[in-house]
Amino acid sequence: MKQLGELIQSADWKTEKHVPVIECPDKVKPGEVFSVKVSVGKEIAHPNTTEHHISWISVYFHPAGEKFPIEAGHFEFSAHGESMAGLNQGPVYANPDVTFSLKITKPGVIYATSLCNLHGLWQSAKEIQID
Ligand SMILES: [Fe+2]
Repeated sequence: MKQLGELIQSADWKTEKHVPVIECPDKVKPGEVFSVKVSVGKEIAHPNTTEHHISWISVYFHPAGEKFPIEAGHFEFSAHGESMAGLNQGPVYANPDVTFSLKITKPGVIYATSLCNLHGLWQSAKEIQID
């Protein structure tokens, strides 16, 4: 039996539309609030339909030298054109794109995971240094 982590896919986000793209500074001051943007489909748009969409993005911070990552945010995308009139007849589609802010006191790695309802779990990572 595989471990869940082995089932999380990874690739270059410039060629694979499912990979979450993490945009944040490479280096911050300890305790300084900074923005983190995570999106799916930055280079190649991912479909956003009732049948095929990104359901959520989770963001973790793994402080250097520590054993466990810490979940910093979990963002659900709930509207995908659902409607009583039928699939993709609804008036609203949530785009899989989120910006929030963090402050950190140690360097580490920001991890993002995303879930496509058809194509499973995807991940990416970005190192962040402390000044
Ligand atoms: Fe997909």
